[in-house]
Amino acid sequence: MISLVFVVAAYLIGSLSFAVIVSRAMGLADPRSFGSGNPGATNVLRSGKKIAALLTLLGDGAKGWLAVWLATLLQADYAIGERTLAGVALAVVVGHMWPVLFGFKGGKGVATAAGVLFALHAWMGLATLGVWLGVAAIFRISSLAALTAALAAPVFCWLWLPGKQALFGAVLVISALLIRRHKSNILNLLAGTEGRIGTKASPPE
Ligand code: G3P
Repeated sequence: MISLVFVVAAYLIGSLSFAVIVSRAMGLADPRSFGSGNPGATNVLRSGKKIAALLTLLGDGAKGWLAVWLATLLQADYAIGERTLAGVALAVVVGHMWPVLFGFKGGKGVATAAGVLFALHAWMGLATLGVWLGVAAIFRISSLAALTAALAAPVFCWLWLPGKQALFGAVLVISALLIRRHKSNILNLLAGTEGRIGTKASPPE
């Protein structure tokens, strides 16, 4: 029962779409209405407001980190096992992708997944972030960086969390969901039409 409480709480934390919250608070257009239509930091950056994109990135990343960190902190008190922790890790990303609080129209999960990885193991988070930064620096394409990092994350999990099968499974599923959510980006990449980081989009009037 307590496991279910943690998983549902993680899902609700994940449901807080910071792209929408920050944009509304700053009087910007809803990120679901311009650019890629994705409520995420990359698309908020297309509004031209760098600070809004940064706050979105931090908010979405922090919620992934917070859900896993809280479960880890209370692990001993509530006898939370590895499988519940894996459920929490997955639930917060699922909450971001399909948020009950925002009509189930969520983002692609990159920042939230990064927060989860950092909370599970700092080196795993850093290594995955390193892959994202490296690919982004070379190609200047956010989705390509995210897709490469998603492929690398399970390898890093296997390296830094050996024998943690449930957590490995959670990271694997998170990566698979993240890649699935990038379907339109993959098609654009194959067509050579994927936009570069920082290219502005015209928000609706
Ligand atoms: O973080 C999401 C990013 O990988 C792609 O975003 O807006 O270009 O679809 P976007």
